[in-house]
Amino acid sequence: MKILKSPQELNLALFDLRLKKTVGFVPTMGYLHDGHRKLVKQARKENDVVVVSIFVNPLQFGAGEDYKKYPRGLARDQRILEAEKTDFLFLPDVKQLYPDDFVTEVRVSRLTEGLCGKSRPTHFAGVTTVVLKLLNVVQPTNLYLGQKDYQQYRVLRQMVKDLNLQVKVRMVPIVREPDGLALSSRNVYLSKTQRDEARFLSLALNEAKKKIVNGEKNVGTLKKAMRDCLKKAKSARVDYLEIVDADSLQGVLKLKSGQTVLIALAVYFGKTRLIDNMLVKGK
Ligand code: PAF
Repeated sequence: MKILKSPQELNLALFDLRLKKTVGFVPTMGYLHDGHRKLVKQARKENDVVVVSIFVNPLQFGAGEDYKKYPRGLARDQRILEAEKTDFLFLPDVKQLYPDDFVTEVRVSRLTEGLCGKSRPTHFAGVTTVVLKLLNVVQPTNLYLGQKDYQQYRVLRQMVKDLNLQVKVRMVPIVREPDGLALSSRNVYLSKTQRDEARFLSLALNEAKKKIVNGEKNVGTLKKAMRDCLKKAKSARVDYLEIVDADSLQGVLKLKSGQTVLIALAVYFGKTRLIDNMLVKGK
């Protein structure tokens, strides 16, 4: 695995390869878990060359969020990426991506207003800005994103379409712990009690999913069932709990037949904010 720190070096290293080979790109913020591993495996299966970036992007953290204490573990990350046969690891530093005179922002509207965008109003502009920069450096054939950040995936897919970027966006399903908790680098912040109660997130989502599969269409009823389930997690504080159209991300009151919806939630355990979601097709 080649480790490159400068955008120019990586761009140059990929210059000839891109002419004849497919390039799969997995952007990450490091502290890798099996969810990331699954992204890299998928990229490895579908491309000749695999590029992974590790960059904790300050632009996507709001004031008071966990940028400074975001978990980092480069040596372990490198071992994982070597084992997954990554060809290039891109490791830029903040000054390389955001020099002192950097003033540009990429913003996708509408899709970024609800769900996580409500409580993290500057987050998605930070994500789209950095991912466009990374895509311009790597110029991959395929971009791999995890379903756990479904809104991020949806927003980035829109950016790619709106800006005519020549890359295919692939979504890779969520990887869960045996008790259902979605893997996340932030799970490491949880105390033992919080970790135990965090299983109610996927239980609540499954509760709504089961009801939808059995024909329930009323979103009020579905949300109440989820809220009741989450009440069992005493240390949890719900940030949001939504059922939205999977494409427009607009809230729905009643599911239409055949409509695919996203059941999504964000829940705080102390200062740790966890998100999770499921995609379900209405009967
Ligand atoms: O999902 C993430 O880890 C980040 O939001 C991403 C896509 C690497 C951009 O910083």
